[in-house]
Amino acid sequence: MAVPRSEYLSKVWADGIFADRVVFVTGGAGSICSAQTRALVHLGANACIIGRNADKTEAAAREIAKVRKGAKVIGIGGVDVRSFDSLKSAADRCAKELGAIDFVIAGAAGNFVSPLSALSPNGFKAVIEIDTIGTFNTIKATIPYLVQSASRNPNPSPSGATGGRIISVSATFHYTGMPLQSHVSAAKAAVDSLMGSVALEYGPLGITANSIAPGAIEGTEGMERLSSSQLEKKQRTEGVPSGRWGTVRDIADATVFVFSDAGNYVNGTTVVVDGAGWRRHGSLAVGLDANMKYPDFLIRGEISKYLKGGKSTGSKL
Ligand code: COA
Repeated sequence: MAVPRSEYLSKVWADGIFADRVVFVTGGAGSICSAQTRALVHLGANACIIGRNADKTEAAAREIAKVRKGAKVIGIGGVDVRSFDSLKSAADRCAKELGAIDFVIAGAAGNFVSPLSALSPNGFKAVIEIDTIGTFNTIKATIPYLVQSASRNPNPSPSGATGGRIISVSATFHYTGMPLQSHVSAAKAAVDSLMGSVALEYGPLGITANSIAPGAIEGTEGMERLSSSQLEKKQRTEGVPSGRWGTVRDIADATVFVFSDAGNYVNGTTVVVDGAGWRRHGSLAVGLDANMKYPDFLIRGEISKYLKGGKSTGSKL
């Protein structure tokens, strides 16, 4: 059974606004990016979703295609965004099979919770390579198609059809800094900066390049990794001014806005979708629970044992 629309798309968007558009999505089988893709496909787009795990990526593509009769969604697995050549092949295949690439979502990301003391040079490098270099590789592999799409779809377009748009999925940690997230903060700061440069250099060719920065989003692998399973729901959400965690639909709706005719003049910026969470420093409570208070756990040299994929501190800076 297809996922109900209310879980990934609000009622405000008209069916068909993305008819005949093609979106290329890295990390498209993940919880946030699959909702973004599902929303665009629901509204008329076809899609290529890219991932490392072939089975997971192909299964997600079949699932997403169920949202609209006649939708074409291709899952291209076995692609690591750290490899430019494999991304380039995926982009060429997508354009060949679906006819174009009009929109790109650079969503592939790596994350785990670690203090600097336990982060090896290779651990830091892995996240920089996936997030920052992976975003660069994605843009580099798809930009020729986006430039073609932008020239076919002037901004603003008389018909309302849009093209030549890129969104990277960023984060908010680097606005204030976040303990246990030095690697991701550095990587996403670079991603935001890169998007600004893309807007400056390719804006004159009709491209828009923006980041969307999700806050804490319910039910995502990211938050499963960042949040201690011992934290009560009330404690998790009390630091967020809007009083709740976000939903994948919140991110999908922002994506639709930026790619649509309503987002024509949004360029070179970050759309923050976090319920004002970043303004309350530490509201995401990465790695915190009743026994893990800042800065005591750092001084003790421990991290919560209730974190998915967390390692105990091994090395010292
Ligand atoms: N704490 C500290 N270091 C860690 C770690 C953790 N929890 N998890 C991995 N690392 C280190 C490894 O020890 C390794 O360094 P080393 O060679 O010095 O030991 C380095 O990171 C690379 O790990 P490896 O597992 O070989 O890399 P990978 O390329 O297979 O995986 C990751 C990349 C580490 C980012 C992995 O978490 C991943 O695949 N994530 C994808 C999914 C994801 O993060 N989703 C959430 C998106 S928000």
